[in-house]
Amino acid sequence: METITQPTRPVPLVPGLPGLGNTLSFLRDPLAILRDIQRMNERVVHLRVGGRHQYLVLMPEDSKHILQENNRNYGRSPAFRVLQIFLGNGLLTSEGDFWRRQRRLAQPAFHRQKLAALANTMISESAAWVDELWQQNSSQRELVQHKRAQPVNMSQAFMDVTMRIVCKTLFGSDVSTNLAKLSSALESLNYLANARMLSPVRFPIHWPTPDNVRFRRAGVVVDTFIYGVIEQRKQQTGATHDDLLDMLRLAEDEETGETMSEKQLRDECVTLFAAGHETTAVSMAWTVHLLLQNPDVLARLRQEVQTVLGDEKMPAPEVFRQLTYTMQVIQESMRLYPPAWIMSRMALGDDHIGPYVIPKGDTALVSPYLLHRDPANWPDPDRFDPDRFAPGREKERPAYAYLPFGGGPRLCIGNQFALMEMQILLALLVRQFDLRAVSDKPVPTQPLITLRPKKPIRAYLR
Ligand code: HEM
Repeated sequence: METITQPTRPVPLVPGLPGLGNTLSFLRDPLAILRDIQRMNERVVHLRVGGRHQYLVLMPEDSKHILQENNRNYGRSPAFRVLQIFLGNGLLTSEGDFWRRQRRLAQPAFHRQKLAALANTMISESAAWVDELWQQNSSQRELVQHKRAQPVNMSQAFMDVTMRIVCKTLFGSDVSTNLAKLSSALESLNYLANARMLSPVRFPIHWPTPDNVRFRRAGVVVDTFIYGVIEQRKQQTGATHDDLLDMLRLAEDEETGETMSEKQLRDECVTLFAAGHETTAVSMAWTVHLLLQNPDVLARLRQEVQTVLGDEKMPAPEVFRQLTYTMQVIQESMRLYPPAWIMSRMALGDDHIGPYVIPKGDTALVSPYLLHRDPANWPDPDRFDPDRFAPGREKERPAYAYLPFGGGPRLCIGNQFALMEMQILLALLVRQFDLRAVSDKPVPTQPLITLRPKKPIRAYLR
C-alpha cells in the first residue's frame, strides 16, 4: 500500500533586527533597542548578544507560555551561572527537583500570615528611618530659609533602609554597624556580575584578575556577615525568633522531614538578602522620581496617607492596607520601571511560538519593560497614571501584560513582602515630608541586572 507522507511545512525564520541586532548596539542602549523591536510589530525577534542566539517574545500570551504553561521546557539561562558564583545554589539560581524542594521549604515563610507578623518590624524600621531623615533635615531648616539646603540622595537612603528591613525581618539582625561595608560589597558584586554577564570573554573565577579579586573580596564580606548571623542563632538554643531565618532553619520538608544544610541555609540567606533589598530600593527610587515629576499625583497620595494614617506614630499593619492609591502609585511605578526589566530562560527542547521555533539550547527572553509599555495594552504607555491600577481595571488587559514579579512557578517569592514594604515606606515618607524636585529633567535609565536610575535620585525634603 502506498504511504502518503505529509509535506513538511517550512519553519519560517524568526525575524531579526536589521543592522542593529548585534551585541554592541544592544549593550550600548538595550532599552532603545527593545523599543525599536517593539515598533517592528513582530511576535518573536531574534537577537545575537554575547555570542548567543536569543529569542525575544513580544506578546503577553507567549510570555505566559514560556514562564508558565511550558515552563518545564525551560531552565535557567547561562546568565544565572554568573549569579551562581556568588549566590550558590539558592532559590534564584537552582533548578529542577532540587529547586522544587527548596521552594516548598521556603514558601511557608512568605505566607500571608507570616508576613503579617513581619509588618510590625517593617513599620518600626521605616518609622526610625523617617525620623533619622527628619533629624538630618532639621539641621537644614535654616539653610532652606537662606536657599542653601542640600537635597537628599534618595537612591542611597532607600538602599540603606531596605537593607536594614531585610536584615531585621530575615535575620532579626541589626546591620547599622556593618551597613556601609555590606552596602558597598553588594554594590561591587552587582556591577561585577553584570560586567561578567555581558563580557564575551570570561576568565575562570579563581584566576587572579583584578575583577575576580574584587568579586571574591566582596563575597567574603557578605559571607562573613551571613555565617556570623547563622552561628549566633545556633548559639541561642531555646530562644524563638519570629523571623525568616528561623522559619527557614526550622522548616522541614513535608515528604522527608529534612531541614536545610548549613551551606544551603547560607545560599538561601544570601539570595534573599541580595534579591530582597536592591530591587525594592531601586523601585522606591523610581517611585520618588515619578512623584517629583508629577506633583498632582504626589498631592493626591499625601492626601490619602494623611486621611488614613492621621498622626498615629506607629499605625497598625491593617491600617496600611487601606492605602489603595498608594499601592496604585507603586504598581504604576513598577510598570514604567520594572526592576527586573528582562528575564531569560534556556530552552531544554525545541519550542513553538506560533509559526516559529525557539531551538533547544538557545535563550528565550521575556521583557517586562517592553510588555509594560506595549501601546496595545497600555494606552499612552509612557505616561505615569496610577489610575490604570484602580480597582477592577486589571480586567482591561491580558494577564501577562503586567509582570514586575515574573510569572509561573518561579514567580518572585518575595512579591507580597516587597509590596507591603514599599507601601509602608512610601506612606511614612510622604506623611512626614513634602518632596520637591531638584531638577525637572527625567533621569536616564541604566539597565544592569536591575533597571537602575543612571544618576542618584535626589530630592528636597520639606
Ligand atoms: C520590587 C521588588 C522586587 C522585584 C521587582 C522582584 C522581581 C523578581 C522577579 C521578576 C523574579 C523572577 C525572576 C525570573 O523568573 O527569572 C524574582 C525572583 C525571586 N525574588 Fe524577587 N523581586 C522583588 C523583591 C523581592 C524580595 C523582597 C525578596 C525576598 C525577601 C525576593 C526574593 C526573590 C527570590 C528568592 C526569587 C527566586 C524565586 C524562585 O525562582 O523560586 N524578591 N523576583
